[in-house]
Amino acid sequence: MLKDKILELKKTGDFVILAHNYQIPDIQDIADFRGDSLELCRISQDIDAQYIVFCGVTFMAETAAILNPEKTVLIPDNTSRCPLAAMLPAERIKEAKKKYPEAAVVVYVNTLAEAKAEADITCTSANPVKVVNSLDKNTILFGPDKNLAWYTQNHTEKKILPLPKFGHCRVHEFMITKEDVLSLKKEHPDALVLAHPECLPEVQELADYICSTSQMLKRAALDSKEFIIGTEKEMCYRLKKEFPEKEFYSIEKAICTNMKKHTLPKLYRVMKKKDKVVTVDHDIAQRARRAIERMLELR
Ligand code: 13P
Ligand code: SF4
Repeated sequence: MLKDKILELKKTGDFVILAHNYQIPDIQDIADFRGDSLELCRISQDIDAQYIVFCGVTFMAETAAILNPEKTVLIPDNTSRCPLAAMLPAERIKEAKKKYPEAAVVVYVNTLAEAKAEADITCTSANPVKVVNSLDKNTILFGPDKNLAWYTQNHTEKKILPLPKFGHCRVHEFMITKEDVLSLKKEHPDALVLAHPECLPEVQELADYICSTSQMLKRAALDSKEFIIGTEKEMCYRLKKEFPEKEFYSIEKAICTNMKKHTLPKLYRVMKKKDKVVTVDHDIAQRARRAIERMLELR
């Protein structure tokens, strides 16, 4: 079986498989580590193996490559791109910096490496408020997700300027609606609502807690026996695996097709051939690394 073949290759000790919480169940099951963007960044730095096989969208694998230049980062399908990341090219940041020279630049990790290279610091959905408040500037150019910017503005005194104005993740913007949450709430009135900060403000307003995917795991450990999960539907597989005694209700149409491009045959193939190596231009990588490390230094 393919699973056994992958496990056999892993035995050489030279591979570590990282999987984002939105990966298909087969990939989540075979991975050495699962997590959100921030956890996977941190884990990638503590790995002994020479090959990091990254099952997530390309910006995540690029972040691992930037942080670990001496390692080889492989990705099973290199077309697994996050459309949100493509909404903020470096040029756009350069123009905004000219217009707002007094502002600091914070970019979400869901960005191209060239955008990170233009930023003072990165953030993830787990830490935007901490990141923004750590800066000495009062005006913050913040991109590319307008809903994460809205969430951050609600939790800081600083002035958040979304860049671009309408950046969004199509899964969280269009596939998780207020009506979806209200209808699940009607079916399960005792369930707590956990929503990702990439969701629309009207969805965030219905949430009991607004959390990154790893924060959803922490919240599920503490509260309630039932949860409505406002993020990509595979998060419920991870939650159910960790808490089999609890119930998690997903919004079934909320699927990130890019995250789903990685499959077991592609994973096996990339481990055998060691092609599909993730690379980032040296100069861009060095500048992006400063912005990512500055975030990682905040505990
Ligand atoms: P997390 O960092 O919460 O895992 O989010 C990443 C992402 O792509 C959300 O759509
Ligand atoms: Fe990008 Fe949205 Fe997919 Fe997350 S869910 S990787 S933000 S497209």
